Amino acid sequence: MRTIVPFNDDWLFLPEKVGQEAADSRFERVTLPHTNKIFPHHNFDNLEYQFISTYRKRFALPEPLNGRQVYIDFDGAMIACEVWLNGNKLGEHEGGYTPFSFDLTDYVRENGENVLTVYLDSTERKDIPPYGFVVDYLTFGGIYRDVRLRYVEQCHIADVFVRTKDVLTDNRCAEVDIWVTNQSTNPKKAAIYCGAEYTEYGAAETETTIEVEPNSTIKVTLTLPGEQFKLWSLHGNRDLFGLYECRVQLYEVDKDGKLINDDSAIVDIFPEIRFGFREAEFRDDGFYLNGERIKLIGLDRHQTYPYIGAAAPKRLQRQDADILKYELGCNIVRTSHYPQSPHFLDRCDEIGLLVFEEIPGWQHIGDNDWQGISLRDVQAMIERDRNHPSIVLWGVRINESPDNEAFYRATNELARRLDPTRQTGGVRNFRESQFLEDVFTYNDFSNTVLEPHVTPYLITEFNGHMFPTKSWDSEDRLIEHALRHARIQDKQFGIQSISGAIGWCAFDYNTHREFGSGDRICYHGVMDIFRLPKYAAYFYESQLPPEQRVVLRAATVWSPGDRSEGGNDPLVVFSNCDEIALYVGDYGNGRYQPDRASFPNLPHPPFLIPGLGIHATWGLENGDLRLVGYINGQPAAEQKISARGLPHALLLKADFTELKADGADMTRLVFKIVDEYGNRLPYTNQCVSFEIDGPADLIGENPFALMGGQAALYVKARREPGTVTIRATTPRLEPTLETITIT
Ligand code: GAL
Repeated sequence: MRTIVPFNDDWLFLPEKVGQEAADSRFERVTLPHTNKIFPHHNFDNLEYQFISTYRKRFALPEPLNGRQVYIDFDGAMIACEVWLNGNKLGEHEGGYTPFSFDLTDYVRENGENVLTVYLDSTERKDIPPYGFVVDYLTFGGIYRDVRLRYVEQCHIADVFVRTKDVLTDNRCAEVDIWVTNQSTNPKKAAIYCGAEYTEYGAAETETTIEVEPNSTIKVTLTLPGEQFKLWSLHGNRDLFGLYECRVQLYEVDKDGKLINDDSAIVDIFPEIRFGFREAEFRDDGFYLNGERIKLIGLDRHQTYPYIGAAAPKRLQRQDADILKYELGCNIVRTSHYPQSPHFLDRCDEIGLLVFEEIPGWQHIGDNDWQGISLRDVQAMIERDRNHPSIVLWGVRINESPDNEAFYRATNELARRLDPTRQTGGVRNFRESQFLEDVFTYNDFSNTVLEPHVTPYLITEFNGHMFPTKSWDSEDRLIEHALRHARIQDKQFGIQSISGAIGWCAFDYNTHREFGSGDRICYHGVMDIFRLPKYAAYFYESQLPPEQRVVLRAATVWSPGDRSEGGNDPLVVFSNCDEIALYVGDYGNGRYQPDRASFPNLPHPPFLIPGLGIHATWGLENGDLRLVGYINGQPAAEQKISARGLPHALLLKADFTELKADGADMTRLVFKIVDEYGNRLPYTNQCVSFEIDGPADLIGENPFALMGGQAALYVKARREPGTVTIRATTPRLEPTLETITIT
């Protein structure tokens, strides 16, 4: 039988390459996911994580082998490694974004201690994508994803691909491709069971018998009838509606070759596969999900975080998907520029967030060996992720690389062979690029929207470096940043042959000195590096349907003189309300409608409210701003912004107040200095200090010299339960507390 054992705990780490005889006392004890270095959130050199490190794990086999094979499975390690067991080299792996495994069976000690060593090279190697040239993002270093031990019988299920078919017809079904491997020297007869429950009481099931020759792999395809299953969609998957689990099991057969229906006859149970019935297609006139045309509106996501690099645990990975869907109203995300965490993709499946996933690389194609790695990346990405219903497009070109006919014919051919159910794309930044994919995916930095010259067509980046914007920039710039996103999304909504537009980008990110603002950050996000909103985030949020959440966000600090020439004309408000009433102090200024003339195509155009110029307020005491949003004539939301502009309180809030005592779990801890109505004051720069008490650690700068009025640290659980209290203080405001329970 198969056994899977989590293998994230009790690793030893040393930030240098040392011989296997080096004493444990030189190492630090760590839990995965792990970053080879903790950083300040900006102003550090990328060379600081570029070294070879040694990871060591001492372990006794958690279960006897009983004739089974045992593998170690890595979900990802940045960027190349060499793995040893008990002084024997098992092999090497190159590439930081896809999973890899080593067979431990020949060298593992069944009794007593084993020593596993991983030499991890986190330097920017020219021979591995994306490092052919300079790259506009940091990859960081470390075994930054999960690791597991996997025991399997010599004959076991190697892979499963659930292909849904004829989804919109009465013949809907799932064709399940099952690969069975026999690593023994004898042929093996067995039976395969395949099933999926569609309700508490009903299931689709089927079985067959097989014979696998020694040292070979066979593929069988079983069909599950699908009419009872509900469709996967962008709504309602949160409670796993439209998301099903496919079980594939291998059984011994009796002397007549029939499946022995008894638990003791089970040879292998493959980990449950989540899948969904949906039809996703980019057509000449746009993107269709389950036959319905949907305009795609989305943002690009890098997988990196402040302080911890790419080593974000499951909870933070899942939260990013939630932020994109629920805080930013996106229906698609592009995993720029590499396959991202399985936890992130799982969450996209659950909540109904579409994904365009692409292979690693950036602007450059290396020599032939390098292309070999890219082809392996295509295969590893698709084999890892082809069961995710959220993924609707494979990116099989290196982002913004030049044309290369032979190479890109090969990546497309491979992708179509491994997954005939999905279309391919390949992101380019020049229009005349050879179109070998199914969808022309184009980075349009024209600051308008170019008409498609070929179809199907998807905009995969815009804005970004054209208008970098910090949370503490002046109001004019923050508004213009938001309106650039609004104008481009509005335009693309008006052009039918454009499937959608994915903006650059969701979150600010760490970068090299060749890019960004000199402090090693690209301020290209609609949110900052902590995933806290700029005004552009309010624009995206305001496109949410009001039934989901009513949004009313004025893009202003409500001051007389922050903008060039002063005043607040026009006042920009991002809202999904029908109408807004505006008050200054006690004075009612009138009612306003969204600016449909300037933004004819957006679901919810911004409000551009005129008449609040300098002459209205110059030299006069300004009153507080009060907005009331109306939906169907009824008040639905209210926002107030103080005219005093003085710090009123320091707020401290953990996104999650319960963490697991696993040594890896984390929550973001947001702090803000706000006015009396809770609006952040972007120009306060007080120093905030933190104290923590209890079984957790604070990750981040402490004290923190605040910029933008808001920022965040992380709280990381240790491996003991308890109550954690964090106290934040700043010289001129009341201290504030947050409590987290570790269980
Ligand atoms: C694009 C590139 C992205 C990012 C962006 C900045 O050319 O694909 O990775 O650098 O520019 O706007």
